[in-house]
Amino acid sequence: MLRKTLHAGIIGVLISGLIGSLMTVSGQEQDNPYTTGQDVQTGEQLFGRNCSRCHGLEAGGGERGPNLTTGEFQHASTDASLFTVISDGIPNTEMVGIGQNRSDQSVWQLVTYLRSLSSGVRVEVAGNPSIGEELYHGKGSCSSCHVINTEGGRHGPDLSTIGDRRSPDQLLSDLLTPNERVQERWWTIRIVHRDGTEVEGLRMNEGTYSVRILDTDDNLWSFLKQDLSESERTETSSMPAYGVSFTSGELEDLVAYLYGLSRGGA
Ligand code: HEC
Ligand code: HEC
Repeated sequence: MLRKTLHAGIIGVLISGLIGSLMTVSGQEQDNPYTTGQDVQTGEQLFGRNCSRCHGLEAGGGERGPNLTTGEFQHASTDASLFTVISDGIPNTEMVGIGQNRSDQSVWQLVTYLRSLSSGVRVEVAGNPSIGEELYHGKGSCSSCHVINTEGGRHGPDLSTIGDRRSPDQLLSDLLTPNERVQERWWTIRIVHRDGTEVEGLRMNEGTYSVRILDTDDNLWSFLKQDLSESERTETSSMPAYGVSFTSGELEDLVAYLYGLSRGGA
C-alpha cells in the first residue's frame, strides 16, 4: 500500500508561510493565517467550484488556464502576491479575480491549496522504480503514447516531470481509472470522409473549417470539415485501465518510477 503523509504537506505549507512572513513587503497583511489541513480541503473545494473549469481538475492546467502545480508562478512570488492575483485577477487576461464577493479567508484558503500542491515535500513510496521503468517500456508499452524526455509517442501527456504534478495516490488512480479526468485535448474523434475513408484518433487541431487527426499508427491526417460525412467525438481516454493486466506490486513499481520523474532529476 502507498503510505500517505498528508501532514508532511501541511508542514510544508506552514514553513512556506513562515518564510513568507520573514519577507516584509509594505501594504496589507503578508502572512497567510489559514494554513491547516482543513484549509487545504476547503481551498480545494473552492478551487473545484471556481477555478477548475479553466485551470483543470487538481489545477493541472486546462484549455483556458495554465497549470498551477509547479510551485512557480509567473505573476506571483510570495503568498501575498498570489493573494492579489487570485483576488484581483490579471488585467487584460481571462484571469478574473474572485475578490469582490469572497472573504479574505476564502482567498487565503485558495493560496494554501495551491501551495500544498507544490510544497516540494516528497512522500515515501513502496515500489521499485527500476522495475517500474522496465514495465513502462516493456509490458506496459506506455512509451507508444507518452513522451519522457522527448522519447515516445504523442497520444498522451508528456510524463517527463509527472512526479512534480501528481502524488503517488493520484498516479495510481491515473493507472486504474484513466477515464476519471480526461481533458478536452485528449478526447478522440472518429470521422468518415465523403470518399469512404474512416479515421479515428486524437484531434491535433480543430478549427471552424478543418480538423487534423493523429491516428493510432501515428499518421497525421488533415480534413476539411465540409468533406466529412460523419464525425463523432469520444470524451473518454484512449488509455487502457491497468488494474487487471498488472499485479498490485507491479502497479506500485510503476508508480514509484513515475513519481521519481521530476525536474529535480529521478
Ligand atoms: C475564465 C478562466 C479562468 C478562471 C475561472 C480562473 N483563471 Fe486563473 N488564470 C487564467 C488565465 C488565462 C491565466 C493566465 C493569465 C496570463 O498570464 O496570461 C490565469 C492565471 C492564474 C494565476 C497566475 C499563474 C502564474 O503563473 O502566475 C493564478 C495563481 C490563478 N490563475 C489562480 C486562479 C484561481 C485560484 C482561480 C479560481 C478562484 C482562477 N485562477 C480562475 C484563467 C482563469
Ligand atoms: C493508447 C495510449 C496510451 C497508453 C498505451 C498509455 N497511456 Fe497513459 N494516458 C493516455 C492519455 C490519452 C492520457 C490523458 C487522459 C487520461 O488522463 O486518461 C493518459 C494519462 C496518463 C497519466 C496522467 C497524466 C497527467 O498528466 O495527469 C499517467 C500518469 C499515465 N497516463 C501513465 C501511463 C502509464 C504508466 C502507461 C503504461 C502502463 C500508460 N499511461 C499507457 C494514453 C495512453
